[in-house]
Amino acid sequence: MDNGTVKLAPSILAADFARLGEQVAEAERAGADRIHVDVMDGHFVPNLSMGPAIVQSLRRVTPLTLETHLMISDPDAFLDDFAAAGSDSLLVHWEGNNNLHRTVQRIRVLGKRAGVVINPATPSAVLEEIVQDVDQVLVMTVNPGFGHQQFLPSTLPKIRRIRELVERRKPACEVEVDGGIDATTAPLVVRAGATVLVAGSAIFGERDGVSGAMSRLRRAVEHHERNITAAERSAPQRSQPCNSD
Ligand code: DX5
Ligand code: ZN
Repeated sequence: MDNGTVKLAPSILAADFARLGEQVAEAERAGADRIHVDVMDGHFVPNLSMGPAIVQSLRRVTPLTLETHLMISDPDAFLDDFAAAGSDSLLVHWEGNNNLHRTVQRIRVLGKRAGVVINPATPSAVLEEIVQDVDQVLVMTVNPGFGHQQFLPSTLPKIRRIRELVERRKPACEVEVDGGIDATTAPLVVRAGATVLVAGSAIFGERDGVSGAMSRLRRAVEHHERNITAAERSAPQRSQPCNSD
């Protein structure tokens, strides 16, 4: 996104697959910072989506960063395939991975950016010993598996805690959110500390097209940020406690 701090990652799960190249090109023209590719195996999540062949096709038509969100039971078995297909970032779930550190190391050996993803019911504390090894943390703001679900507001305090953790342990690590992000929820997650927003249906599912939808999201975040800053500036300073004697 344009304000220099918040980035927008359109999720192609909500795109029209018959016109995928066209839709990605539209997102690119509208200023998308990266493309989010949701990979589902019907096992880790109850849905099937796409595999390395889609990444390979997209790699030929866009210079944008392709981040691959692996919602699959055995990510280790597919890291090499996605890396070879052209993924720039590989995002793996904390849930169900007994050897997360090894998975992250393998992603590094492949020369890719590494990210760890946590589900809504997973506490932020699990990131404590892995955050220093990754480039991004992806916080699920819906239960993974489907697009167009409702944002879970209960994830907001967790995003705040993760922002604090990242500032403490690795400030360069990105805090990204995924699920139910639209013009109403985007300002909330940004305020909580997210700097990268994944959005599927709010970008590809809108009648006025990808570029109209992206401008709306961008405006919602910028407008909110301006209002907050103005409110903070005009808020009365808290008075210093004074001694009565
Ligand atoms: C959900 C996926 C999301 C999904 C988001 O499991 O990880 O990336 O595409 O879709 P929206 O933005 O429609 O909630
Ligand atoms: Zn995703």
